[in-house]
Amino acid sequence: MARDIVIWPNKVLTTPTKPVTDFGEGLTKLLDEMTESMKEAEGIGIAATQIGVSLRCAWVGREDGTFFEIINPQILDKSGPVVLEEGCLSVPDYFDKTPRFHKVKVKYQDRVGEWHELEAEGRLAHVLQHEIDHLDGHVFVDHLSALKRGLILEKMRKLQKALQRQKKE
Ligand code: CO
Repeated sequence: MARDIVIWPNKVLTTPTKPVTDFGEGLTKLLDEMTESMKEAEGIGIAATQIGVSLRCAWVGREDGTFFEIINPQILDKSGPVVLEEGCLSVPDYFDKTPRFHKVKVKYQDRVGEWHELEAEGRLAHVLQHEIDHLDGHVFVDHLSALKRGLILEKMRKLQKALQRQKKE
């Protein structure tokens, strides 16, 4: 079942996640719920924190429209600083230029606990950095100025209030 996407600055989004240690049915169920929530919201990636679960796992979208899960990911190397337009399901309707790297090398586990190493560049590298940021308790707005972050905070508080009102009706 699709779950509501948590809106920044909810605490679950600003707290580093715990590593996944149990690669059983619970993880499969969580990954399924994350996929459904991401598809409903039309995202190209989603972290567990975005449906309120503080565990180190996320889905990452490839350019061909397929997705793969990353469990306990680590960035091993990054190179080529770039500035890219970025958005996030947890910060609806806001996009801004964010400092990132063109290339990253990551290692991660899959749903059965097997380790993989991946060198990615371009959009895939971008999505990986965005999702791993989430798992470290960061959202892309953390890379922006304090002034911008303040304005986004105001916007998100208004949005939260409007959503709560909608739910009551
Ligand atoms: Co995001």
